[in-house]
Amino acid sequence: MEEKRQSVHGQWSSRTAFVLAATGSAVGLGNIWKFPYITGQNGGGAFVLVYLICILIIGIPVMMGEILIGRRGRQSPSHSIAYLAKEAGAPRIWTLMGIMGISASFLILTFYVVIAGWAVAYIIVTASGTFTGASAEAVGAYFDDFLADSSGLIFWSTLVTLGTLVTVAGGVRKGLERAVTWLMPGMLVILLILVGYALSTGSFIEGFSFLFKPDFTKLSADGVLVALGHAFFTLSLASGVMIAYGAYLPEDTSIFQTSVIVCAADTAVALIAGLAIFPIVFAYGLDVSEGPGLIFATLPIAFGQMPFGTFFGTLFFIMLSFAAFTSAISLLEPTVAWIVERFSVTRLRAVVISGTVLWVLSLGTVFSFSKWAEIKLFGRTFFANLDYLTANIMLPLGGLLVAGFTAWAMKESATRDELGLGDSPVYSTWRFVMRYIAPVAIVIVFLAKLGAFKHFGIDLS
Ligand code: PHE
Repeated sequence: MEEKRQSVHGQWSSRTAFVLAATGSAVGLGNIWKFPYITGQNGGGAFVLVYLICILIIGIPVMMGEILIGRRGRQSPSHSIAYLAKEAGAPRIWTLMGIMGISASFLILTFYVVIAGWAVAYIIVTASGTFTGASAEAVGAYFDDFLADSSGLIFWSTLVTLGTLVTVAGGVRKGLERAVTWLMPGMLVILLILVGYALSTGSFIEGFSFLFKPDFTKLSADGVLVALGHAFFTLSLASGVMIAYGAYLPEDTSIFQTSVIVCAADTAVALIAGLAIFPIVFAYGLDVSEGPGLIFATLPIAFGQMPFGTFFGTLFFIMLSFAAFTSAISLLEPTVAWIVERFSVTRLRAVVISGTVLWVLSLGTVFSFSKWAEIKLFGRTFFANLDYLTANIMLPLGGLLVAGFTAWAMKESATRDELGLGDSPVYSTWRFVMRYIAPVAIVIVFLAKLGAFKHFGIDLS
C-alpha cells in the first residue's frame, strides 16, 4: 500500500457530503429541461428505454471508473490521469483525455449558465402572475420576446455566473459543500411537492405511456446517439467532473455504492420530471417536440390555468434553479482545480481568469437565441453546435477513453485496490463491462450514426 495522499484542494467532510455534491452535479438542467425535450423530439418510450440501458451498462461503470481515477490521483482530471498513467507505465498521451474532459465541462458551462439564467428569470416572471389565465399564444410570445431581449438574458446569465464563481472560489468545503447541503434538500422537498401535485391532476396515464411505451419505429440512429450522449451528460460523466469530485472523496467510502446511489437518484429525478411534465403537456394539447423551449413555452400555460398555478409554477422554477446551480458549480471545478495546479495560482485568481472567459463565451449562447439565430454552421446555431459537440461527440468519446484507461491501461491490481471490492463478482463484472461491453456499445452507436451499417442493408438512421 502506498501512503495516503490528499488533494491540495481539500476533501469532502463525509460520504454524505460527496453524495450530495455528486447528485447535485448529476441532477440539473439535463434532467428537468433537456431530458423531457429530447424525449419529446425522439418519440418517447423507445428513446427512454435506450437511455435507461445506457445508464445501467455504461453510466454506472464509467462513473465508478472516474471516481476511482480521481480518488487515486487526488488531483485535477488531467493531472490525476498523468499520475496514474505513470503508475501504470502507460503513455503520457492519456493526459489528453483529462484535458478533453475539462474542456467539455467548461464548454457545457458556457451554455449552462444561460439556460440556468432563464430558470432564475422565470421564478420572478411566474411569481408576478404573468401567466395567470394566459393563452398558449401569449405564453409563447412572452418566451419569444424574452429570448429576443439579449441584455435581459445577459443580466440573468451574469447573475448565475457570479453565483457560480463566488461559490467555487469558496473552495471544496466552504463553497461547494456548503452550497449543496442547503440546496439539495431544498430541491428534493420541492420536487416531492410538485410530484404530489402532478399525481393529483389526473392526466397521468397519457404522460406515463408516452414515457414508457416503446415504439421503435420512432427511434433513429441519431436518437440512439442522443440517448447515449445524454446518459453521459445527465450523470456528469466524461467531463472531468466526477474525477474532480472523486479527488476529494474520503478514503474509506465505497465507490460502487455511492455511484449506484448517484445514478439511481439522477434517473429517478429525470423520470419524475418527465412524469410531472408530460401529463401537463398532453392535458393542454401542447407540442411535445417543441425543443429547448419546451418547459418554458409550454409549462407556464398549464401553470396559468391550474389552481394555485402561480405558486406551483414559482416553486417549479425555484427547484430548477437550485438543480442547475449545483451542476454549474461542478462544471467549473475541474477547470479551476486544473488552473490552480498547472499555474500555481490561488483559487481566487483561477476563478477570476476562468470566469472572465466563461462570461465572454456565454454571450455566444445568448445571441444564438436572438441576433445570431440565423447564423448557422452545419445547419445549427452556435448553441446547438456547442450542445451537439459536447453531448454527442466529446462525452461519448471521453467515456470510451475512461473505459480504455481504467480497464486496459491501468493495472488490474490498482483498480481492484482502489475500488476496494476484493474478489467480489462486482469487481469482475465492472472490469468486464469496462473492457468490452461499454467500449463496443459506444463504438457501435457512433458507427450506426455515421451510417456504417448501410452496406449490410441495415439502415438505422
Ligand atoms: N449533469 C448535469 C445535468 O444533468 C450537467 C452536467 C454535465 C454537469 C456534465 C456536469 C458535467 O444537468
